[in-house]
Amino acid sequence: MSVERTLAIIKPDAVTAGAAGKILSRIEQAGFKVVALKMIQMSFDDAAGFYAVHRERPFFKSLCTFMTQGPCIPMVLEADDAIQRWRDLMGATDPVKAAAGTIRKDFATSIEANAVHGSDAAATAAFEIGYFFSSLELCGR
Ligand code: CMP
Repeated sequence: MSVERTLAIIKPDAVTAGAAGKILSRIEQAGFKVVALKMIQMSFDDAAGFYAVHRERPFFKSLCTFMTQGPCIPMVLEADDAIQRWRDLMGATDPVKAAAGTIRKDFATSIEANAVHGSDAAATAAFEIGYFFSSLELCGR
């Protein structure tokens, strides 16, 4: 196991619902270090660039529109095995399939409005962290 960084986003549905604090609390209680965090309002093009890997999917336009519906909170999480551990804490993409006690089970309302995002691999995490944060914004502790 090695120390990793992953990109997490609290999505607009969860921010608008007032769940950001509760989700952040779960992240801290699970032992992740938050090494960067900000609240931003994405444009359609911002979201399209972030989700470019999904551009051929039928839900792409709808997903990008959803991500512009309100502010979201991207953050960088650090921990041993952070990428997989954050995915475990989030739960399955579709909240109907998410395990009890996961963030998506408790806060997501649909497969699209699923409260949180997490990188799926080391190369993805490197791209996604760099998409939102400069090296000066990453606070190693
Ligand atoms: P996320 O983990 O951010 O990665 C891609 C996102 O696309 C996903 O969470 C969902 O918000 C969305 N998504 C994935 N599959 C579907 C789907 N079948 N229909 C609508 N949105 C989806």
